[in-house]
Amino acid sequence: MKPCPQSSLTRLITDASALLVALTCAHTALNAAPPQPEYHRDTAKGAFKRPTSVPHPKDNPPTPDRISLGKALFFDPRLSRANNISCGSCHNPSFAWGDGLPKGVGHGSKEVGRRTPTILNTAWAETLFWDGRASSLEEQALGPIAAPGEMNMPLDQVLAKLKSVPGYLPLFEKAYPGEGISEQTIAKAIAAFERTVISGTAPFDEWIAGKENAISDTAKRGFDLFNTKANCVKCHSGWNFTDDGFHDIGLADADIGRGAHLKELESMQHAFKTPTLRNVVQRAPYARRIGTKPQGGRAVLQPRRRREATQSFARDCSVEPDRRRSRRAHSVHGNPHEHRSARRTADPSDRFSRPRFP
Ligand code: HEC
Ligand code: HEC
Repeated sequence: MKPCPQSSLTRLITDASALLVALTCAHTALNAAPPQPEYHRDTAKGAFKRPTSVPHPKDNPPTPDRISLGKALFFDPRLSRANNISCGSCHNPSFAWGDGLPKGVGHGSKEVGRRTPTILNTAWAETLFWDGRASSLEEQALGPIAAPGEMNMPLDQVLAKLKSVPGYLPLFEKAYPGEGISEQTIAKAIAAFERTVISGTAPFDEWIAGKENAISDTAKRGFDLFNTKANCVKCHSGWNFTDDGFHDIGLADADIGRGAHLKELESMQHAFKTPTLRNVVQRAPYARRIGTKPQGGRAVLQPRRRREATQSFARDCSVEPDRRRSRRAHSVHGNPHEHRSARRTADPSDRFSRPRFP
């Protein structure tokens, strides 16, 4: 695959046109892929239906007590050594559960090595992290607490600290009777909460469900491109726009991603997990290696009309509507600001309402 032009990515990071650049990169890289022999829009739409239930592991079925405990832990900065960072500092609901930064900022205000991915829809993720090194949310949850660069809190200390907060034990008892405050119950509660962090219904979903006028004709052409010539669907497949696979899209840098865990597999060197494109307009800057030096190559912008179609698809339909959409659209469709109104709701398990700290 040809290297993608990094300089353009850097230039455009704050703007939805970064989508276009990513698109152009992938398009350039994948030009060689054979086109689908026959394309039918209706058949293609069938692959994008939203699931009707949320998966969870057998030993951690969700209950309101587990979810609200998990939410308190997720947003509680006391889980960090300096009492100033929570999971929610980097996975911030206002930035579609990312942080809007080129790279995450952890303990001591220092940058961590990679960009913070969203935790939206991770209930469905087969592997976690850019390099897939964790295989469940339960397994993942303790990592950032102990990681020196993130929350920098050794796990024995976090247990002692939580036990010293009088209100936490009763919450753990309600959520996991008889299990107490342990590494396992902390991880299970956080994971149960994370499984409620699901992207809302977008105009795209309504269109897929059969409401023909839910998205514009331009966005529909974007969908066609996504599925044919641009072939984004090769990796950004299904309702969550990810194949949960690992790919090298040609942004060469020192980080070898999945390759660090699968050294013998050449295809995994510099391969990274395909991110979801849900709510992507709220998650700039994009891609994991923003800020590295350009590796050569030239951005070939697509003809104007095609560019409009693909941008419109990303903005208006493949993801939730962004801020530029009309109020009417917000009221009719999924609303990126839904947390504002939802904050007023009393349901503690609602993912956007305020956490209740003990
Ligand atoms: C300092 C910022 C920071 C904090 C604090 C933080 N994270 Fe993350 N999170 C990241 C970064 C960066 C990654 C990607 C790391 C990688 O791929 O190597 C990540 C990855 C993840 C993922 C994987 C998402 C995916 O799609 O693969 C999950 C889930 C997650 N974090 C949950 C949490 C939880 C739970 C906490 C709190 C216990 C937490 N994070 C605290 C920055 C942070
Ligand atoms: C070969 C698989 C593959 C194809 C095809 C592909 N992508 Fe990607 N895409 C990825 C991977 C992997 C990443 C993450 C790369 C990284 O950060 O190192 C990514 C990142 C992105 C991002 C940044 C998202 C974020 O949260 O950082 C966007 C936007 C995107 N792709 C859109 C597209 C579009 C539009 C197309 C079609 C033109 C496309 N991609 C084709 C694999 C692919």
